[in-house]
Amino acid sequence: MRLVVFGAGYVGLVTGTGLSDLGHEVLLYDIDPDRIAKLNDGRVPIYEPGLGDLIHRNQRGGRLHFATEIPASFADADAYFIAVGTPPGPDGAADLSAVMAVADTIAKVATRKAVVVVKSTVPVGTCDAVQARLAGAKVSLEVVSNPEFLKEGDAVSDFFKPDRVVVGARSDEARQMLRELYAPLQLSGERLVMTDPRSSELIKYASNTMLAIRISFMNELSRLCHATGADIHAVRLGVGTDSRIGKKFLYAGPGYGGSCFPKDVQALAALGRENGVQLKVAEAAHQANEDQAVFLAQLVDKALEGVMGKQITLWGLAFKPETDDVRESPAVKLASALIERGATVIGHDPEAGPNFTKVFGSKVAVKERDYDALDGSHALILLTEWRSYRAPNFAEIKRRLKASADGMPPVLVDARNIWRPSEVQRAGLRYQGIGVSLHRAADRPSQVLV
Ligand code: UDX
Repeated sequence: MRLVVFGAGYVGLVTGTGLSDLGHEVLLYDIDPDRIAKLNDGRVPIYEPGLGDLIHRNQRGGRLHFATEIPASFADADAYFIAVGTPPGPDGAADLSAVMAVADTIAKVATRKAVVVVKSTVPVGTCDAVQARLAGAKVSLEVVSNPEFLKEGDAVSDFFKPDRVVVGARSDEARQMLRELYAPLQLSGERLVMTDPRSSELIKYASNTMLAIRISFMNELSRLCHATGADIHAVRLGVGTDSRIGKKFLYAGPGYGGSCFPKDVQALAALGRENGVQLKVAEAAHQANEDQAVFLAQLVDKALEGVMGKQITLWGLAFKPETDDVRESPAVKLASALIERGATVIGHDPEAGPNFTKVFGSKVAVKERDYDALDGSHALILLTEWRSYRAPNFAEIKRRLKASADGMPPVLVDARNIWRPSEVQRAGLRYQGIGVSLHRAADRPSQVLV
């Protein structure tokens, strides 16, 4: 099939490239000329494992093209994908102006019957609004909802091996078209969920919010563990082994971040309010996430008996490993809180340093090497569970960090609970996890995060 994908951002780039690898001929369109020039030069604007190779292979194979205009050769495309951003407006509701602008372009360029596939995360009813917007097109265009569930850092494998593909279409013809489009993925049974556009749009928000609720609940329980002396690892294992609950997405930490969870939870809550249905659980998940950031800043403050005038190192600036994305990253929130309280912040991240510097400028020194970021700091805070941070040399960390004026050893705040407290303590450092009881967990093996 011949496909046009609008938006060479995260979702568009992965989807367009993936579809070209399935054998379709894909034109990836973006209004940003720099982004397109880079891609045409073989440079990939985001860090995503495996994506660069996949792009190059399909570019070489002549199936993947990048442009800032739709050439006449693609005016007869079989499908147009909308994969542009839907940033939150002031009340948390998604801003659809980019989606509608693309709809207008499609209405102008399409010269034959086609489907318009909405990949962007959009509020319920958007596909119908886009359908109305396309009323002036010269040809028949059916709008289909096909939300994206890719995880950053795993996006390429998620594309080829999705848990499920959700398609919301009104006509059998459009459903059949999407079935054929994804046929090379060999999705059987329940892995291809066919429904109407409104349910499909809601599934996307519901999935992300459900996951965010799990994390927020575990984060609240981690605070209760601090207050009661219980241990969050034991609680997670005990709860997660119930097969109805399952073990995934139950890790307490510094709060969820990224471009999806914070935005989508709020957008769902806003959708509820607009429709006269208060989604109290979703609203509470958001509030609990904000509270976790405050809790973490207080934990650091307490561990250091005040952060004013102290130097603090953050390891992990991205919102999760295997990405350079710092959007809504816990590290951004914590660095802001610490700077506000008069601390000096030094950072390190295997990939996200440059993006973090775009946010903080010279206010945070970002070091190239992890250990170099430690020199003279009073504390190390681990915020992202990158592989390279999992088994550090604690003796070296101790050598580089500084004891407090009253001789208290430097503290390690392990906001992802990946280190063994006993090992940290043996190196002469203090250990502080999130909801981790030191008496019970002293010899617990370090956790392997999913
Ligand atoms: C998410 C969804 O998983 C994906 O399906 C959707 O398409 C986009 O949003 P992503 O934002 O890439 O993907 O990251 P994800 O791995 O889901 O993590 C989101 C946040 O939750 C991260 O900050 C992560 O650190 C945090 N998290 C995740 C936890 O704090 N605990 C967990 O147990 C799991």
